[in-house]
Amino acid sequence: MKESVAQELQEKIASYQIQQFRKDLLHWYDTEGRVLPWRQKPTPYKVWVSEIMLQQTRVDTVIPYFQRFMSQFPTMEALAEAPEEQVLKAWEGLGYYSRARHLHHAVKEVVAEYGSQVPDDPVKLGELPGIGPYTRGAILSMAYQQPTPAVDGNVLRVFTRLFNYAEDIEKTKTKKEIEWVVAHCIDPVRPGAFNQAIMDLGAMVCTPKNPACRNCPVQQHCLGREAGQAERLPVKIKKIRVRHETYFVPVIRTATHVLLHQRPASGLLAKMWEFPMFLDPDGEAEDSLQLSQWVDKQFAIQLLYLHEVMKLRHQFSHLEWNVHVYQCRWDEEMDVEKQWSDEIKGAYHFIPIDQLAQLPLPVVHQKITEWMKSEFE
Ligand code: ADE
Repeated sequence: MKESVAQELQEKIASYQIQQFRKDLLHWYDTEGRVLPWRQKPTPYKVWVSEIMLQQTRVDTVIPYFQRFMSQFPTMEALAEAPEEQVLKAWEGLGYYSRARHLHHAVKEVVAEYGSQVPDDPVKLGELPGIGPYTRGAILSMAYQQPTPAVDGNVLRVFTRLFNYAEDIEKTKTKKEIEWVVAHCIDPVRPGAFNQAIMDLGAMVCTPKNPACRNCPVQQHCLGREAGQAERLPVKIKKIRVRHETYFVPVIRTATHVLLHQRPASGLLAKMWEFPMFLDPDGEAEDSLQLSQWVDKQFAIQLLYLHEVMKLRHQFSHLEWNVHVYQCRWDEEMDVEKQWSDEIKGAYHFIPIDQLAQLPLPVVHQKITEWMKSEFE
């Protein structure tokens, strides 16, 4: 792992006051940490149920559900024996019901296969339904005192601030790096308390907006605060939604000229030249009859023959073009331009093929030009 962790983080860890950081954090947790029902005499089963309930759900909402669930199903055997409807009923209102189904199945498996002992082996635990790396880390650290990170969104926020780390937390690489940092910092004697202290810090002090840095028990360990960057972290780059557009592109030419369009003076690829592009709302661009009709309507050209010669794809920042290129035959002797409207005349021109190289063309259209030239060589 170490090789793939950014040099920057490795250097920061090397000079970090880890012992003092743990001490300050745990002292605060012991005096100011939240008193929560699953923290009182934690058992693997209690930790497990609470962690599943706490996924995508606020602590305040979970508390009464957790208490009712535990009195209704006080042991794993009781839960394993309950019919699914009863488990779902107890979960009613918490949402994300597949969490309850997975928990129920996994508890049955633990009762049947592991003699009602939640596995303390990371591999076996991680194989149970609904237990991903985060829940596995939480159970191992809180119930079995194994120094395992449990990194969720809150922990990512706290640690990117503590280490002034401005990489995108949406990336798997960044998450793995932060896990590596947590694994270095975690208290080997009280790993469960350490993980929960970070959660409490994230909920009570190191909040997404307006973090209370002046009240932070580990402010002197916070490189983000030192650099005046804490509130700008973490960096989370939103994935842009890519719009897909599919076009028919007919290559309409004579021996010497080819029909091109000049794009409008503003917007995408402003003023560049291109082969005519017909947007296909169906997204297939495979109905050649539709293309013939468009060409007739737009240019008064009746195509005698057309067939698809190429499919091209081009990705802009948030737009993808899928371009289906059609070779066309038509009666080249016809003087079609005199039938064109002024609007069409202003935007479409038969351009001498030997002048194409002087015109600015988008990449996709350069590829079509290359095909067209090779066709006639
Ligand atoms: N969120 C997820 N796990 C938690 C825990 N054990 N305590 C508080 N908040 C949490």
